[in-house]
Amino acid sequence: MSHTAPLIQMLRNRRSIRQFTPQEVPQEKIIQLQEALLRAPTSRGKQPWNFIFVEDRELLEKMSRAKTHGSAFVAGAALGVVICADEELSDVWIEDSAIAAITLQYAAHDLGLGSCWVQIRNRLHDDKTSSETFLKKLLEINDSSRILCMIGIGFSNEEKSGLPQTQLPAGKIKFIYKNSLK
Ligand SMILES: Cc1cc2nc3c(=O)[nH]c(=O)nc-3n(C[C@H](O)[C@H](O)[C@H](O)COP(=O)(O)O)c2cc1C
Repeated sequence: MSHTAPLIQMLRNRRSIRQFTPQEVPQEKIIQLQEALLRAPTSRGKQPWNFIFVEDRELLEKMSRAKTHGSAFVAGAALGVVICADEELSDVWIEDSAIAAITLQYAAHDLGLGSCWVQIRNRLHDDKTSSETFLKKLLEINDSSRILCMIGIGFSNEEKSGLPQTQLPAGKIKFIYKNSLK
């Protein structure tokens, strides 16, 4: 019988969760989420990122207005984590931040929590203001700091199953076999 790695089993089940129960995220889970973020790999080990954990309901509600579409669900999350980085510390802060964000989402799933990414970089709050400017003002984030995204986290209040194997876009993968180029 072939062995399926626990991470693969987790990937088969993970989905974006946007509806949450009102239950708070217990402190011991928050500590593990923080550890996951701080263990995320970064280019040249520069760790240009920093993370803002928000439990305050009023602030989460304000953060949920960062975009016209796709951020409203954050108002119902028990926890919001804003993924920031100092762009002066690394030219690949976007990659480093994205790796931290998905590491956080996988750790959340592993801890029995649901989560969903809210894109902030390159998105608009309204006609005049970017989502980044809106959030930087709200959270009092300094000038050289950038915001890639925020992750809404909480106990799931929706049923979602992973895609069946047959629906995976297998055509996206090209395989060059040993000695096939001769
Ligand atoms: C870079 C990125 C940006 C995303 N931005 C948003 C967003 O702003 N709002 C949202 O509700 N979901 C967002 N998502 C979640 C995607 O919509 C979701 O991952 C995708 O539809 C696949 O669904 P699944 O995660 O359930 O497999 C984002 C995901 C990624 C990777």
